[in-house]
Amino acid sequence: MTKLLLSVHVLAAILAIGPIAVAASLFPRFARESPTGVAVFLHRTCRTYAGVGIAVPVFGVATGVSLGVLGDAWLLTSVVLTAIAAGLLVLAILPVQRRVLAGQTGNRLAMSTGVFNLLWAVVVVLMIVRPGSTTGA
Ligand code: HEM
Repeated sequence: MTKLLLSVHVLAAILAIGPIAVAASLFPRFARESPTGVAVFLHRTCRTYAGVGIAVPVFGVATGVSLGVLGDAWLLTSVVLTAIAAGLLVLAILPVQRRVLAGQTGNRLAMSTGVFNLLWAVVVVLMIVRPGSTTGA
């Protein structure tokens, strides 16, 4: 059961967060050239996959319960970083993308997108290294 939950968790992370990271990174460049067509598509990609991405923490928590590691420091740190990244996406990146598409300036959009991608990189390393964990390799 744990293996199934972990597989869905990792698959969701690859398939949902990967596209958001790429689409959000490309958005500022295409939006600068013309706030139509590709930019609209990239914004929709970010929004749609943000919904799909909810599966990542849901199956992450289920995996954590199944393994009995939910209280571990590395996992709690990951949960906090995941929450910050999700908040950044929903409260900063998506609304600013919308403003840019409406012809307004995209204040610090490239910066918040960069921080967003960096947070995922840190969480992935935490998930794999699991500092302080005594279970598994
Ligand atoms: C609420 C947030 C999250 C929770 C509760 C969570 C929980 C977990 C748990 C319990 C494991 C199993 C670790 C083990 O085998 O001992 C795991 C593995 C993994 N998680 Fe997460 N996770 C979360 C967010 C994320 C995010 C955001 C990503 C990617 C961006 C991610 C990527 C991975 C990967 C790649 C593994 C496989 C690591 C391995 O087994 O070596 N997780 N996660």
